[in-house]
Amino acid sequence: MTQVKRPLAPILKWVGGKRQLLPEISKHVPDNYSVYVEPFLGGAAVLLHEQPAQARVNDSNAELINVYKCVKESASELIGILDEHAQHNAEHGSEYYYSIRALDRSEAYRELSDVQRAARILYLNKTCFNGLFRVNSAGQLNVPYGKYKNPNIVNREQILALEEYLNEAEVDMRCGDYKDCLVDLPQDSFVYLDPPYMPLSQTSSFTGYTQEGFGYQDQVTLRDECLKLREQGIAFLQSNSDCEAIRELYKDFEIHTVSARRAVNSKAAKRGSITEVLIRG
Ligand SMILES: C[S@@+](CC[C@H](N)C(=O)[O-])C[C@H]1O[C@@H](n2cnc3c(N)ncnc32)[C@H](O)[C@@H]1O
Repeated sequence: MTQVKRPLAPILKWVGGKRQLLPEISKHVPDNYSVYVEPFLGGAAVLLHEQPAQARVNDSNAELINVYKCVKESASELIGILDEHAQHNAEHGSEYYYSIRALDRSEAYRELSDVQRAARILYLNKTCFNGLFRVNSAGQLNVPYGKYKNPNIVNREQILALEEYLNEAEVDMRCGDYKDCLVDLPQDSFVYLDPPYMPLSQTSSFTGYTQEGFGYQDQVTLRDECLKLREQGIAFLQSNSDCEAIRELYKDFEIHTVSARRAVNSKAAKRGSITEVLIRG
C-alpha cells in the first residue's frame, strides 16, 4: 500500500540518532512487510522515516516511551506545559534548568503526572549540553545546562505531526527488554535493530542510556536473537559499530559498510567520519 508520508522528524535528540544514515538504511528495508518492528526505538528516526501503517516499537527507557505515549494521547496538554517551561527558561536559564533537572532527586517526582514527566524530558533534552539524555547509576539525569541562545523547546509542528501519525497508524508502544518485542511476530514482519553499539575502545564506550549497560555478552545474545529471526524467515536489519567483534559475531550474515558522522563525542575534533555496519538477515 503506497501512502503519502508526512514530514516527520525525531522530537528528541538521542545518542545514536540515525538521521544521517536514513538513505543507506532505507535501501535495505523491504517493500512489502506487514508489521514494522523496532525494539531499540531511541529517537525513532527510522520509524518516522518509514511511517509504517502497522508497527511494534519498544525501548527499555521508560521516560522515553512515556514521551511518545503522551504525544499520542495528550499532545495539547504537553505543548501547554512546554510553553511554560520555555517561558521560565527564557527568564531564568540555567537556574530553572537545574531546578527541573533536580526533580528526579526529590519526593516531588512521584507526584508528577505522565504528561508533566514527558514535558520535563523534552525540555531538558532541548536545553541540556549536547542534547544527551544521560543518567547516572541511580537513574538520575546528570547532564549540565547547554547554554543555547534560542533552544527550540516547544516543537509544536513536529509534536502535532507525530501525534497525527501515532493516532492514524497502528503503533504498539512497549517498554521493556528488546527480546520480549521479538516474540510472536508475523512472518512477513520487518525488524530494524539499533542496539547500543559495541564500543570501539574503552574511551568511546557509552553505556549510559539507562542504568543497565549493554556489554559484549549482550551483543552475543543479540546475535543469537538474530539467528532465531533468520530461522523463522523474518527479515531484519541491524546497525552496529564497525569492529572486529561485531564482524566476527555476524560473519555468516550479509554485512554492509556505511560511513557515518559521529556526534556523540563532545570534542568537535573527534567527531570525524567513521564507518558503521548494517547487518542484514
Ligand atoms: C542506539 S539507541 C537507538 C537510536 C535510535 N534508533 C535513533 O535513531 O535515535 C539504543 C536504544 O536502546 C535502548 N536500550 C538499551 N538496552 C535495551 C534493551 N535491553 N532493550 C530495549 N532497549 C534497550 C536505549 O534506551 C536506547 O534508546
